[in-house]
Amino acid sequence: MTIASAIKPSSLSPQQFQDLRDIIYEISGIFFAENKLYLLENRLGRRTRELGLESFDAYIKHIKTQDSGSPEYHQIYNAITINETFFFRFQAQLESFKKLLSDIKKTRQAQGSNSIKIWSAASSSGEELYTIAIILDEFFGPDLKNWDIYLLGTDISHRALQIAGNAMYGNNSFRGSMTPEQKAKYFAPEGNTFKLRDDVKQLVQFRYLNLNDTMEMRKLTSLDFVFCRNVMIYFDEEMKKRVLRSIYGSLGHGGYLFLGEAESLHGISSAFKVEHFSGAFAYKKE
Ligand SMILES: C[S@@+](CC[C@H](N)C(=O)[O-])C[C@H]1O[C@@H](n2cnc3c(N)ncnc32)[C@H](O)[C@@H]1O
Repeated sequence: MTIASAIKPSSLSPQQFQDLRDIIYEISGIFFAENKLYLLENRLGRRTRELGLESFDAYIKHIKTQDSGSPEYHQIYNAITINETFFFRFQAQLESFKKLLSDIKKTRQAQGSNSIKIWSAASSSGEELYTIAIILDEFFGPDLKNWDIYLLGTDISHRALQIAGNAMYGNNSFRGSMTPEQKAKYFAPEGNTFKLRDDVKQLVQFRYLNLNDTMEMRKLTSLDFVFCRNVMIYFDEEMKKRVLRSIYGSLGHGGYLFLGEAESLHGISSAFKVEHFSGAFAYKKE
């Protein structure tokens, strides 16, 4: 046992919980309800021990001296985020995406344009955006090289972004509806993992972006599709509204937003037109 792990910061008091939760909310928009006290105690207790600090008060004092871009905040983002994701996670939605892709292909060709811009706004370890890249590769085939494809994945967790950049995945990432043929076509076994084909990996880029950062989001413009899935469940209503306003601004006219299967815009935004597909919804900016 290391000295750091032997130090046990006392349990998180309601006041310390409130202080930490306010700091986290202010920097990331992630809201921890009262019943998440033990989760914060557990995750940030580990970090407090790693730093050799003896109490949560000392930890709170420590982070209050840092600015929100500091490495310590990135440690917090790594510690508190839930990065659960896998390839081909929601087949019905992906089918609706393919349908819209074929519409946009025709529209672009009619306009004499070849550009398609897609953003995975909480891309975690990359499976969502790589799924989209695989779908594009299958959809366009050899013609893909004639298209100007922009695929951006962003997340607040550097740990998740690092995994995304490596593009090597264990079995857990393959529990969605990717077929064995797709897996064999796009991945090569390497030890206990599977490595994504380089040409598909090179279609995408990942970078850090905090969805609480309205100014940074404003730089993303004229997007055709935004996947903002399974992240807004961690935000309160005010933050959800703020993020949706930004996404609306980032989409081009006729662009689409996709949410997680258990998420909806009901009561949060009426700016989008809901389009129904078999088993899925897409939200259009008209
Ligand atoms: C459950 S994962 C969802 C991954 C993927 N979109 C999917 O549906 O499979 C949620 C992701 O949201 C990210 N996240 C949470 N708060 C964020 C914020 N304020 N800005 C950017 N990403 C955030 C987390 O780091 C995590 O990787």
